[in-house]
Amino acid sequence: MRIDILTLFPDTVYAVLHESIIGRAAKKGILEINCVQIRDFTENKQCQVDDYPYGGGWGCVMMAQPLKSCLDHVMSTAEGRKSRVIYLSPQGKTFTQETAKRLRNDYDHLVLVCGHYEGVDERFIEKCVDEELSLGDFVLTGGEIAAMAVADSVCRLVPGVLSDEECYTGESHWDGLLEYPQYTRPEEWEGLSVPEVLRGGDHAKIVHWRRKQQLLRTRDKRPDLFEKLSITDPADLKLLEEIQREALLPVLDKPLSFRRAVPEDLPQVLSIAADAKAVLKKRGIDQWQGAYPNAEAFLYDIGRGECWIAFHGEEPAGIFTLTTENAPGYDAITDGKWTPDLSFCVIHRLAVSAKYRGTAVSAYLFRCVEEIAHSLGVGSIRVDTHKKNKSMKRVLNESGYRYRGNISVLVEPGHDPARQAFEKVLN
Ligand SMILES: C[S@@+](CC[C@H](N)C(=O)[O-])C[C@H]1O[C@@H](n2cnc3c(N)ncnc32)[C@H](O)[C@@H]1O
Repeated sequence: MRIDILTLFPDTVYAVLHESIIGRAAKKGILEINCVQIRDFTENKQCQVDDYPYGGGWGCVMMAQPLKSCLDHVMSTAEGRKSRVIYLSPQGKTFTQETAKRLRNDYDHLVLVCGHYEGVDERFIEKCVDEELSLGDFVLTGGEIAAMAVADSVCRLVPGVLSDEECYTGESHWDGLLEYPQYTRPEEWEGLSVPEVLRGGDHAKIVHWRRKQQLLRTRDKRPDLFEKLSITDPADLKLLEEIQREALLPVLDKPLSFRRAVPEDLPQVLSIAADAKAVLKKRGIDQWQGAYPNAEAFLYDIGRGECWIAFHGEEPAGIFTLTTENAPGYDAITDGKWTPDLSFCVIHRLAVSAKYRGTAVSAYLFRCVEEIAHSLGVGSIRVDTHKKNKSMKRVLNESGYRYRGNISVLVEPGHDPARQAFEKVLN
């Protein structure tokens, strides 16, 4: 790709475009970028490139002759090339990534003409310019910044300039979407941490998260672009459904907190347990489908100081019980084993209220559990759930719990006693 920039400030433009990635590609010969002084082609003694506008008015207009002579000179050295003469102008079509792709694909020689003052004589545009491009709906002092932007964005698409095609096909605007958020070291900065998924090393999860972020960002930051998208890829459609579902969830805009439940909390505790029972029933999961867990069980937990309640602001959002008492059936684990020689505590009766299902409250409950477990000084946390309870298993997995085997719990007659056992070993 060869680019000739016709300008009154060739040194400035040359200095910028011969820096960094584009400059290195030019040195390697992948690109040729020339900056040509329009003033060198004047035919008057004063080397004057502009004059007063016909009809009067403010400022000066660049004369057609020096521009045309400068262009003729450039074109005489570009025979056989597929050339395109572009005038940078606030009146042109807005330059986009699509324009950059088209220019890279269709031409191997771009001539970028930079105007100045009040612009250029209209007859030069009529006679010599193939296309006018604008950087946006605002007015610059000269075309140089626009020409540098066009040259830079076209050049980085030229094979060999960037190390890999993926460097630009994954970026904002390539397929109509914005890029996902990027992070680098350190992991914690000013109280903000890098999202856990990016630290976990699970490539499939990272790809899923990044694509979802692309859709979310485009929707939130650039609704105009989002409206224009026509998404047909089944994976993207699924992600959009996920996003729409999540949009209906309450925003956690108040602080989350937790404390030991007291007897006066019993109505709220029972109400959250009833929400969880209803969801399990709807999903056909035979867990908590009898009277358990009932007021008696919760009052027992509260009496021992082992029932905890979490709040979003003032509103009860979740509950759990954490005990150091071994659970019936846990010692008879089959198809696996608990980590040996570790003291432990056991989670029971963990539930999120209907309003906060699907939000970060469930993950928060597991963080609270961990905080208490640390203060108890135990080495691990144990928990069980029904094998069909996929949402619980997902949160367990995301919170660092690992499957350890199968157990059988005490249930009311006619219900399924089989449970899967999970454990998280604490550092
Ligand atoms: C002050 S401007 C002239 C504006 C012109 N009088 C008008 O109102 O349309 C001087 C030069 O800056 C460049 N320029 C200004 N705004 C631009 C933009 N948005 N995109 C590309 N080039 C621009 C053009 O080359 C133009 O000739």
